[in-house]
Amino acid sequence: MTTTTIDMERVVAFAQQVGAMLTGGATAAMMVVGDRLGLYAALADGAPATPGQLAGATGTSERYVREWLAQQAAVGFVRFDPESGTFRLPSEHAAVLASDESPASMIGAAPLISGLHRRTDELLDAFRTGEGIPWSAQDPATFESVERFFGVGYRTNLVPEWIPALSGVHEKLTAGARVVDVGCGRGVPVILMAAAYPASEFVGYDVHPASVETARRRAADAGVSERVRFEIGHCHGYRDQDVDVITFFDAFHDLGDPVGAGLHARQALAEDGTLVLVEPMAGDDLATTLATAPMAAINFAASTFLCTPNSLSQPVGLALGSQAGEARLRKVLEEAGYQGIRKASTSDFHMVIEAKP
Ligand SMILES: C[S@@+](CC[C@H](N)C(=O)[O-])C[C@H]1O[C@@H](n2cnc3c(N)ncnc32)[C@H](O)[C@@H]1O
Repeated sequence: MTTTTIDMERVVAFAQQVGAMLTGGATAAMMVVGDRLGLYAALADGAPATPGQLAGATGTSERYVREWLAQQAAVGFVRFDPESGTFRLPSEHAAVLASDESPASMIGAAPLISGLHRRTDELLDAFRTGEGIPWSAQDPATFESVERFFGVGYRTNLVPEWIPALSGVHEKLTAGARVVDVGCGRGVPVILMAAAYPASEFVGYDVHPASVETARRRAADAGVSERVRFEIGHCHGYRDQDVDVITFFDAFHDLGDPVGAGLHARQALAEDGTLVLVEPMAGDDLATTLATAPMAAINFAASTFLCTPNSLSQPVGLALGSQAGEARLRKVLEEAGYQGIRKASTSDFHMVIEAKP
């Protein structure tokens, strides 16, 4: 019989780590409260406020705001001054919490965590049966978060960094190109490209009707509807031909049949067209991803709850997962017949892969 001795210091250290994770989960819910009620926005100027002043400025109840502020101080998001009884949001924290427009913003990711919790029972069933869960069955907070949080990265990188790093794509878009975006969701990257390249025309396809409807509204609000169409459409279903650029933003790994989607896109592309995949940053194997990808832990959670189930809900069900990595994606593209596959750019959270038909 073997006896195992337990290192109590390591038990305590690990328990503290788990405690921090639980605090993070609870804090994500508190972030949603601060976001929805405008509490962070009201503190964004950095001025100290008492709970009463913050409640007055946001039309909320002082007793609740006092408790929320205490939690936010406990977690280090706001600073508490015991002398004056005031709370202050440092400007560096406001850059992350108070608005989606800041390039450092992370507040849009908070509703995603609520969305995952609201679909835990469905995921338990999926684990037991092996069945998939389509994107459309996820909680609406998930769609909101994808639009808001991914939108931060797209605004920062897509037009200034990623497009210029692709071979000849900036030039084509400037001259006037035909672009198809597959798995367009609520349309953020398409609308950004349409605004930056007024000579080009764009079509976005997605199987999720509610996202397509929102994307159409967003295009109208941005004043680009004349050159942008959003349609309900499957990655194998669109009929466009001679397309200059086909993009998949955070969508390729979600597909049941990415090889088939790649083949379909290859047939739709012009001879000198370009396929562009924007995919979450990951290594080529789990050990590398765990050691290097900054968002691996949250990405694997999203992959377990969202990406893998969506893929398993569709024919083939290849289930690449959100952390597929460049080498795996390259293999899929090779199988679909692409050439000239290369990683054109990266950002903290994404890699951009281009390929030729
Ligand atoms: C993570 S979201 C990304 C949305 C958008 N591209 C973005 O980056 O904001 C993945 C999208 O792929 C769509 N999708 C999943 N399977 C699809 C399929 N077979 N054909 C077309 N779209 C699909 C989902 O409905 C969802 O809107």
